[in-house]
Amino acid sequence: MQDVGLSIARQDIICAETPSGPCGFVVFGASGDLVRRKLLVSLFRLFKQGLVSEHFFILGAGRKEISDEQFRKDTEQIIIEKTKESLPQELDSFLKHLYYIAGNYSDISFYENIKNKLAELGSTHHVGDNTIFYLSVPPFLYPVIIELLGSTQLSCQPNMKIVIEKPFGRDLQSASELNKSILKCFTESQVYRIDHYLGKETVQNILMFRFANSIFEPIWNRNYIDHIQITIAESVGIEHRAAYYEHSGALRDMFQNHMLQMLTLAAMEAPISFEADSIRDEKSKLLKSIRPFKIDELDKSIIRGQYGQGMVDGKPAVSYKSEHSVAENSKTETYVAAKMFIDNLRWKDVPFYLRTGKRLSSKYTEIAIIFKEVPHSMFASIGLDDMPANVLVFQIQPREGIMLNFQAKRPGAKTCISTLSMNFKYSEIFSTEMPESYQRLLLDCMLGDQTLYTRQDTIETSWKILTPVLEAWENSDSSPIEYPAGAESFPAADNLIESDGRKWRKISE
Ligand code: BG6
Repeated sequence: MQDVGLSIARQDIICAETPSGPCGFVVFGASGDLVRRKLLVSLFRLFKQGLVSEHFFILGAGRKEISDEQFRKDTEQIIIEKTKESLPQELDSFLKHLYYIAGNYSDISFYENIKNKLAELGSTHHVGDNTIFYLSVPPFLYPVIIELLGSTQLSCQPNMKIVIEKPFGRDLQSASELNKSILKCFTESQVYRIDHYLGKETVQNILMFRFANSIFEPIWNRNYIDHIQITIAESVGIEHRAAYYEHSGALRDMFQNHMLQMLTLAAMEAPISFEADSIRDEKSKLLKSIRPFKIDELDKSIIRGQYGQGMVDGKPAVSYKSEHSVAENSKTETYVAAKMFIDNLRWKDVPFYLRTGKRLSSKYTEIAIIFKEVPHSMFASIGLDDMPANVLVFQIQPREGIMLNFQAKRPGAKTCISTLSMNFKYSEIFSTEMPESYQRLLLDCMLGDQTLYTRQDTIETSWKILTPVLEAWENSDSSPIEYPAGAESFPAADNLIESDGRKWRKISE
């Protein structure tokens, strides 16, 4: 396959980013991994770009007793490590906005202290009551934090927002209980349920691509599309997260959220406007149209795997069961592949094949739209009857772009056909640095835009689809099928798609 380049045809598209207004950020779980790796670095990047108002502060809240000074030092080190830039001036002024408060999450006095601190910082930094509470703590702490934010009236100001990380529940019942407890203290317009995949540029671009071009939408349906494949492959294992992952597994960790969100963007109807609720209404409709899994024939539509030992990136990798803190008889799945259908006019009987797994051959995420083959090859008479289907691929990572495969004649007297690939690579066309997904999401939250955040009903509908599967797996005697670490696929996963006469795409560009 050969590549054909692209260039920007129109430079004058207006796309200025709106800076946030005054804002205070309270981060629960401030010494945790996510806060360190993603949140503080993203906030710093926004600050550096002038997208965070001068009137802002970050109040780290956690159990660990550390001083403001120590919190600033730790943050400085992480930012320097992550950005690999020395930015003394900007970094210095960013760090001056950082504070820390220690306490016990289940003790009301912690929240009273936070309240007093917020009043003090609000006036020092001229922030007013525009405060965001960011929950980056283990999920068992969500209910207590939410309740105490409510009982100390911290949730009552109209400008307060709460950001909640996944996992948002572990099944339908726990998700709806969590939603209920949140909505006792906050209104839905204050709640920002974060799914970092929605902040990825190429994921956002799916809507732009589908609905800002008139040539694709007419063929975006069962008449022209044969099937859709969605892949999130990771080469990493569970790293140091066994305690979380053992109780989660791939279906909860990746499928209920990132995978289903990508599916909705690829398949939903056109929203009436680019506004949070218009988009979220369409996502919700789409999820409600997903055909439930047939529990008595589960293996025909969804399979689970677990990595065994193998080689990843040329290095030996241990099996999941041998990872630190994993039970030696663990039945936790590290891989899921599913065939799903959407029962609506547009997609009736078009299979959507989704797969995600850890310790696969490479890190690669894409959504591939595989069109139907031409119904009749007029070239059959000259021996060219095998005409590959057109494929449109949203490449999400590691390389971000869009690729369209099509057939073209090779130059020369003989009639030969080549499959060409029209390739748009973000990094080559736009010279700007690709923003981290958290940057976009945090800025949106500060601006009060919920478009890229998940609404209560979508969360519950996605759990409704998957809870029967989780229950069936939990009640089953069988275990996930072992695949070797570093594998591209394995027979049970292949069989899911090959029994329909189709093939998984390669897990790489
Ligand atoms: C997280 C999961 O939500 O997404 C992790 O909890 C996973 O297990 C990660 O590794 C993948 O994110 P990304 O952006 O690296 O694809």
